[in-house]
Amino acid sequence: MIRKGKLYYPDKAFKDKSWINDKSIYKKADKDPVKFWEDLAKEIDWFKEPKKTFSHYAPYFKWFEGGKLNITYNALDKNLETRKNKVALIWEPEPLNEEPRILTYYELYLEVNKFANALKKLGVKKGDRVGIYLPMIPEVVIAMLACSRIGAVHIVVFSAFSSTALNIRLLDTETKVLITADGYFRRGKVIDLKKNADKALKNTKVKKVIVVKRANNKVAFKKDRDLWWYELVENEKDECSPEKMNSEDTQFILYTSGSTGRPKGCLHVCGGYTVQAYFTGKWIFDLHDEDIFWSTADVGWITGHTYTVYSPLLNGATFLMFEGAPNWPKPDRWADIIDKHGVNIFYTAPTAIRMFKKQCGKLSRTKFKTLRLLGTVGEPIDEHSWNWFFRNVGREKCPLVDTWWQTETGGILISSLPGIGPFKPAYTGLAFPGFKFDILDDKGKSVKTNEKGNLVLLSPFAPALLRMVYKNPKKYKKTYWSDYGDKIYFTSDAAYKDKNGLIRIVGRVDDVIKVAGHRVTTGELENVLSKHEHVTECAIVGIPDKIKGEVPIAFIVSKGKVTESKLEKELILEIREKIGPVALPKRIYLVSDLPKTRSGKIMRRIFKRLFTKEPLGDLSTLANPESVKEIKKIIKK
Ligand code: WT7
Repeated sequence: MIRKGKLYYPDKAFKDKSWINDKSIYKKADKDPVKFWEDLAKEIDWFKEPKKTFSHYAPYFKWFEGGKLNITYNALDKNLETRKNKVALIWEPEPLNEEPRILTYYELYLEVNKFANALKKLGVKKGDRVGIYLPMIPEVVIAMLACSRIGAVHIVVFSAFSSTALNIRLLDTETKVLITADGYFRRGKVIDLKKNADKALKNTKVKKVIVVKRANNKVAFKKDRDLWWYELVENEKDECSPEKMNSEDTQFILYTSGSTGRPKGCLHVCGGYTVQAYFTGKWIFDLHDEDIFWSTADVGWITGHTYTVYSPLLNGATFLMFEGAPNWPKPDRWADIIDKHGVNIFYTAPTAIRMFKKQCGKLSRTKFKTLRLLGTVGEPIDEHSWNWFFRNVGREKCPLVDTWWQTETGGILISSLPGIGPFKPAYTGLAFPGFKFDILDDKGKSVKTNEKGNLVLLSPFAPALLRMVYKNPKKYKKTYWSDYGDKIYFTSDAAYKDKNGLIRIVGRVDDVIKVAGHRVTTGELENVLSKHEHVTECAIVGIPDKIKGEVPIAFIVSKGKVTESKLEKELILEIREKIGPVALPKRIYLVSDLPKTRSGKIMRRIFKRLFTKEPLGDLSTLANPESVKEIKKIIKK
């Protein structure tokens, strides 16, 4: 990499090899973004070419209308022509004594077709919702692709989510078929996933549960409802013609934390998602035929959907999938995996990078010989961690793309391109060609260079941007299309731009906390806590954490006779059960009152500032300023 002041640029060798290395692409895209995407979309195989590239009926919009396609045709069939026997997937199990599983494009194609036929036999049709509650095993990829093959809508639920979280999603989508496993390995233990799945079926419309045998775990089996995956596909035909999907048909639904305790189902559509997943992967990760791409994200998150599964396959690359925890059984397991399989492109999250930095420190520079590109996503990365990753893992040779996007956007929207740059520690960089961003003050005026404001996306938005909050158009409008009117998409992030036009993300301005990159809404947590019999009032705030970026802290006003430690235990258990371990508060404090305005609004920013040691600001509007003194004392202890 070439350094100019604080900026880094790719060297000539990297530039020459990369798909995009000419700055003029930005000008071209900027001039007519709709035409730009129209031209790009021609690289996708359509059963029927789109008629109209973009139309807008605020707050709704469409891309590639009239087009017909299937994402699996582009991810599988198309690759059979030139890459039939090329490795599509390398799966690394967690137990060290187990062998990796390798699937070529042809093998993956056959498995997907077989399972698609099996789903059809169970009565699954185009538009039907299918729940997928699976760990990081090859079957999760096969299941997602099989749904897409027949036009069914997958709802992938993170395997570490609780049965309640799964239950909410199954109910909301009226899912009739659920795919799960007998268990999986995590930090040396077998996790009984089937037990969770069974618990989640209460009151749902699930008629069939397909179970993958992974851990040889003894599980309860209900006759007529539960089916073994391997039995189901045993005699299935390995040809299943891909459903011809309209561009605006639903591709999948993925839930993200919501403010009222109910998660929001982000609805993505076939045409725009396929085009954006393909091109962002190709240009940002510079995916070439010989590349082995490892995105560490679990399929339960949008990164897992787009860059662990769909984008590498659309690009005919080889991708790696790892079942376990990246620091188990030893802190540098992830580094061993990179070396063992010769990974070229490594995409992970700042929390993981901070953990690697802490646990592995200075890594031997002989490692990572194969790496040529690094990526990060999910939360702001600090300069220290950026530099550590860049120097120790990337050997100052690999461009480091800091990719900004959201569950809602379906694919990356901001990241400098590796063959062009520039890269600057802690900055996410330039918007991907064809996307128009602005940074606005509260009145809707663009802010000046280096001034903080709200990050918004302007028309024509993005092909993969969500089309709807499932079954909730009100929420769709209110969350994304109301702060600046119905023609501007509000990201809920604060950001600023430097003099080079590079964007730096400051963080969320709504009630979302990013815990280890995962999205947790304070309202969702408060909703669980406030249902406890001994809780009168509660407030959740996010405070900075050295590894996880941010962590939730709870303040509780309790009633009845209960000790702090007992209540803390019960509340933690409750959150584990209702949401899952990602959302656990780091501490729970019992207080006698919460600081409130005279109108009764809890002043959450005060708690936060007590931790960050920022000035508390004007307290004269508080109805109970003495509460602040008490909280200060309690935190100090
Ligand atoms: C929020 C979206 C999209 C994949 C995973 C997260 C934050 C995302 C970055 C980045 C700083 C980032 C934003 C965004 N975020 N990427 N590169 N730098 N912040 O998806 O759970 O829907 O969260 O993650 O705050 O709004 P998500």
